[in-house]
Amino acid sequence: MLASHALESQNRFELKKTTDILILGSGIAGLSLAIKTAMARPDLEISLITKVEQGESNTRYAQGGIAAVWNDDVDNHDKHVADTLDAGDGLCDEDVVRIVVEEGPERVREIIDWGTRFDKNKAGDNYSLGIEGGHSEKRILHYKDLTGFEIQRALVEKAKGMENIKLYEHFYAINLLTPHHLGFNITRVTPNIECYGAYILDKSDGEIYTFLSKITVIATGGAGQIYRNTTNPIIATGDGIAMLYRAKGRIESMEFVQFHPTALYNPAGENPDFLVSEAVRGYGAILRDLEGNEFMQNYDPRKSLAPRDIVARAIDNEMKKSGSDFVYLDCTHLDKEGFYSHFPTIYDKCISLGIDPMKDYIPVTTACHYMCGGIQVDKQGRTSINRLYACGECTYTGLHGANRLASNSLLEALVYSHRIHSDIIQQIGNYEIEHKIPDWDATGTNQPKEMVLITQSMKELKEVMSSYVGIVRSNVRLKRASDRLKLLYEETEALYRSTSLSPQLCELRNLISIGYLVTRSAAMRRESRGLHFTTDYPENLEFIDVTIL
Ligand code: FAD
Ligand code: SIN
Repeated sequence: MLASHALESQNRFELKKTTDILILGSGIAGLSLAIKTAMARPDLEISLITKVEQGESNTRYAQGGIAAVWNDDVDNHDKHVADTLDAGDGLCDEDVVRIVVEEGPERVREIIDWGTRFDKNKAGDNYSLGIEGGHSEKRILHYKDLTGFEIQRALVEKAKGMENIKLYEHFYAINLLTPHHLGFNITRVTPNIECYGAYILDKSDGEIYTFLSKITVIATGGAGQIYRNTTNPIIATGDGIAMLYRAKGRIESMEFVQFHPTALYNPAGENPDFLVSEAVRGYGAILRDLEGNEFMQNYDPRKSLAPRDIVARAIDNEMKKSGSDFVYLDCTHLDKEGFYSHFPTIYDKCISLGIDPMKDYIPVTTACHYMCGGIQVDKQGRTSINRLYACGECTYTGLHGANRLASNSLLEALVYSHRIHSDIIQQIGNYEIEHKIPDWDATGTNQPKEMVLITQSMKELKEVMSSYVGIVRSNVRLKRASDRLKLLYEETEALYRSTSLSPQLCELRNLISIGYLVTRSAAMRRESRGLHFTTDYPENLEFIDVTIL
């Protein structure tokens, strides 16, 4: 009896980990923050957590590139600011836009210094700059159509050499630790809630660790997996946003879900959908209907290079008119050598499906691509919970407003990881580890995993969101979505309380929360603006407000 008790307390002890800074997520946001903080403060231990291997993230799939004012002869900050504000349809925070645009080029130079490569012009004396929808000048730095892969590679290599970054791969963050875990009753209006770390599941053996930290950072990326069609990898399940919401933090602008206009039409139902970068349209490709007619001039004078909300809605409308599931992207007039050197991955993918982009029109369709809303943060990246920061796609900083300008998200992540880094360095001395947090309580969760319930509920969720909370919304559709989501929520919570924990069940639970947040925010916005279009309120009202949950 005594021996087994001793063993139990030893195990308990081993299930606690303490660290100075806990970063959840190893995409561009988490990695760049970890690297610069580790460089500045070798005395601090940084734990970097990822639920898969360190190279996998949304970041890795970024194609088009990173927007930054680079050619001062023709471009300037004011133009980049104006383009961002225009895309954001009246809801951007102009101070934030200016901060990101002005600090952006220096942050990009930093990742170049850390080993990231971008394509150069033919003379090799400057960067080759691309253009995408909504940009008035060429300002997108890119590495072929593999920009994200190259950035992720360079950051992972840089981080590997740093002794004070402890990387935990295949560790899944479940919940944030707050006074709730010390027995206090907290609500969304409780002031000064603090975060003490997170419960984290080791996927290799199912153990749940209590990670105690002085400061925690959420950098868990987006949530595209709430829809049937998405360009986001399967890791994009909105875990960080859902965790923050459960911890009673503030979330903003979740109704603004960006659909990319040109995912490769995917009748086989692959998850994720393969992206055909907007840079292809920047290079001269043209959208055409099923008869081969150009149609974008009927929607916007900028035609195929209008901002993404406009192009996605136009394609949605064309598909509804024709009853088809796709439109065409015409690259046949572009030169093969140039196309291949810019877009080798896209070219090879099309060829693998029997589509020759130089001879055939590419069938494309809309797919969920980016969450413009998320965890509300201030200009230092602080959330509404003390000792808790957030960075990257999981946040709402005010940069994107009602619609993100293409290639501004990688930039936003770099600028905010730097700002968080500066704040952490100043603040960390004020915090101690909270040792009184109890270990994970698994009482009553003995039933075996019910995978069939989890996978079916996941399918139902995606159907509900795609059918009723997609590009075009209405009161009736949102009400129906909300009713269906309530049922899914209740069933999943019951499963969560009784079943041994699995990442799949946690992800389902998180995605249902994200679905709820998107649907509820959409119902609250009684106008059409940016990415939110509802047939009940088709007008863009001339007042500025925000939706905060
Ligand atoms: P991510 O890169 O998604 O990283 C999230 C990390 O969090 C991952 O390491 C993941 O494993 C981890 N994680 C998540 N949940 C948990 C959990 N519960 N526990 C532990 N770890 C967890 N933007 C641009 O600016 N330019 C582009 O050209 C561009 N192209 C894109 C193309 C595609 C196909 C896609 C999908 C997106 C594109 N974007 C682009 C958007 C951009 O890539 C993302 O917004 C950005 O990379 C997000 O970075 P992040 O660091 O916030 O999150
Ligand atoms: C793309 O390459 O089209 C994606 C760019 C982005 O999402 O910013």
